[in-house]
Amino acid sequence: MRISKEDIESFLETGRFGRGLEVHQWLPSTNDRLLSLIREGEYIGEGYVVIALEQKSGRGRQGRVWHSPEGGLYLSILLQPEIPQNQWNNILLLGAIAVYDAIYGLYNLKTTIKWPNDILYADKKLSGILIETKRGAGGVVSGVLGIGINANLSSEEFPREIREFVTSLLMEVGEMVDLNELTAGVLNAFEQLYFHLVEGEIDVRGELENRRTIIGRRVEVMSGGEVVVGRVLGYGENGSVILEVEGGGRREFHEGNLSLID
Ligand code: BTN
Repeated sequence: MRISKEDIESFLETGRFGRGLEVHQWLPSTNDRLLSLIREGEYIGEGYVVIALEQKSGRGRQGRVWHSPEGGLYLSILLQPEIPQNQWNNILLLGAIAVYDAIYGLYNLKTTIKWPNDILYADKKLSGILIETKRGAGGVVSGVLGIGINANLSSEEFPREIREFVTSLLMEVGEMVDLNELTAGVLNAFEQLYFHLVEGEIDVRGELENRRTIIGRRVEVMSGGEVVVGRVLGYGENGSVILEVEGGGRREFHEGNLSLID
């Protein structure tokens, strides 16, 4: 599947996001490429995007590997918002909402947003989002939002041990998708949400509740060495998840690993 700056631009409706963009045949990791541009003090501007057709060392949350053969979509976006530190979790959630909206808008496929950073279809992982922050020249905090989508990948292209837990757009839509259109779809959706957040004009909790999420599901959250089982009640102010704990009480988690039980 050909992917190019020009083809992506033909689908872009953004003011800034994706207007500066580079496409690589392969990279170790698109997040690493963007983080090193920030470190070197390159002036690339907010909304700059790095894409790789393949990643050799794709990274997931908590040091996990993000399997990245050619056919998937791997992109990172530079963000420099003037927001309090506790809003970064909300940006991660907006990334998930943008992927959800793009997939629904383009393929009419209703996925599920699994707190904090996964997009599932039929409880199998279709996409993951990762945010990493770095203080660059002049003390400006930059964020790199990395998005991986299992796009044109067939089951055999995943390692055998994860095959039953993952899916792809190719498998669910039933045909190859246009990665240029998908990239632009994600950027179009994300830019709008992001600017609303920066202007303080978005209720992220409400946005989540308007989509299919894991509210009502029985889950296990591992956080700070503790394992808590309960039912998801909803979301908190700064991108947290709230559980009704089995055995009584409510708990709010700002970070952690969440697994669906049933
Ligand atoms: C996760 O589910 O744990 C997050 C996965 C994030 C993967 C993307 S692919 C583009 C960017 N570059 C990386 O190395 N990781 C992110």
